[in-house]
Order: sequence, then structure tokens, then C-alpha cells
Amino acid sequence: MQRYKLLRQCGQIDNPLYGLCTTGCLCPVQRPVNGAPSRIPPEGVCGDYRIEHFTVTPEEEARTRIRFWRDEHVKAGDYVRLMRGRTVVMSDTPMEMRTNQPILHNATGDVLINGLGVGMVLRHILAKPDVRSVTVVEISPDVISLVGPTFCDDPRVRIVQCSAFDYQPPKGERYDAVWHDIWDFICSDNLDEMKTLHRKYGRRTNWQASWCREQCER
Ligand SMILES: C[S@@+](CC[C@H](N)C(=O)[O-])C[C@H]1O[C@@H](n2cnc3c(N)ncnc32)[C@H](O)[C@@H]1O
Repeated sequence: MQRYKLLRQCGQIDNPLYGLCTTGCLCPVQRPVNGAPSRIPPEGVCGDYRIEHFTVTPEEEARTRIRFWRDEHVKAGDYVRLMRGRTVVMSDTPMEMRTNQPILHNATGDVLINGLGVGMVLRHILAKPDVRSVTVVEISPDVISLVGPTFCDDPRVRIVQCSAFDYQPPKGERYDAVWHDIWDFICSDNLDEMKTLHRKYGRRTNWQASWCREQCER
């Protein structure tokens, strides 16, 4: 199955401030709020990867409105995506916001994220004042080159170039939340890797989850 393209919106998505809306549903934070530094990686190419900015026009939004369910379409606006060849590895569309909600809600204290992507999860959890540190484990040096500098001014962020399966956290280190998102698509084939990661990080945290695990189990 392809990484989902179906989107869901809440009634407050037109709120110009974006961010966490008043209904508690998550809307895209496309651009900095209140003068905060931009956490959108610039366009660029590195090795097999590239960062692209793209715009969904009102006309394109109308087309996806026809194709998708009533409340699941791509809202007009500006987005960023990480590409590997013709594969969209990650974008910051509303669907991604929705499917990453578990970590956005549970991130607190010391957090570990497997998979940097476009840094969408990272930029949102850094906006939470109760997040003390974020360790990001990313396998691709190209992705780190493209996206890492966007976060280099935040002393809470540590990006480690390593596979999530091989990473050995410092002795005794524990996390308040661990999030695994290293997959391009929602697919039942991901389940074995999810189980391996949950076993590996289970002793390091009391809360962990994998992106779209429930959908993979269906
Ligand atoms: C879907 S993206 C992650 C999206 C990210 N959560 C965000 O908010 O933008 C998946 C990322 O995992 C990385 N990745 C793939 N396999 C990995 C592995 N074994 N260990 C660590 N990172 C991996 C990919 O290079 C890619 O950057």
C-alpha cells in the first residue's frame, strides 16, 4: 500500500495562525508563528535525496475534494516534501499531521525519534515547552545534510547518523517518548521491523509507538 494520500481536516484549518487549533485537532504549521525561526528546510539536492517546496492551488484542492472523502483532501497552501527519485519519502501535508498525532501529543521531556524526514515532527515537538531534549536517529547522511542545519540553533536537538536498528543510546539514557517513522509507505511488511524496534527500545521508555502501525495491521 502506498504512503497514504488521504487527508483529514478539522473545522479550524483556516485559522491563519495554524498550529494546534482550538478543537485540539492538528493543523499544518507551514510557516513560523509569532516570529519563531523557520523550521522549513530549504530546497536542495544531496545524493539521491532532494527537498522540494510545493504549492497546492485552490483549483488543485478542489480536484482532490472530488477524489477524496468529504473531509480528506489536500488543503490549498504551501508544503515541503522529501523526495528520493520519484518516491515521496515525507511531506508536511495534513495527512502526515494526522498520522503523526501520537508523538505530537505524547512528546514530553526527553524524546527519541527514529527518522528525520523533512523534520516535521521535530519542528512541532520543539514548539512544546516541556520538551527537554530530542535525539533524532537518521540513517541517511544526505537527509541530515539537507534538513539538519534547519535545527542546528536549538541546543535541545541531537541528530545521530545511524540506523535505528543499530543505534546504542548512551548507557543509562531513558526517554519519555520514542517514535519510529522510518518507512516510505504504510505496508504490513513494516510490522516485523516495528516489532524489532519496539523490543529494542522498550527498556528505554515507557511510551513508544510506530507510524501507522494500526493501519499496517489491518
Ligand atoms: C517518513 S520519513 C520520517 C518523517 C519524519 N518523522 C518527519 O516528521 O519528517 C522516514 C525517514 O527515516 C529514514 N530512515 C529509513 N530507514 C532508517 C533506519 N533504519 N534508521 C534510521 N532512519 C531511517 C529515512 O531516510 C527518512 O528520512
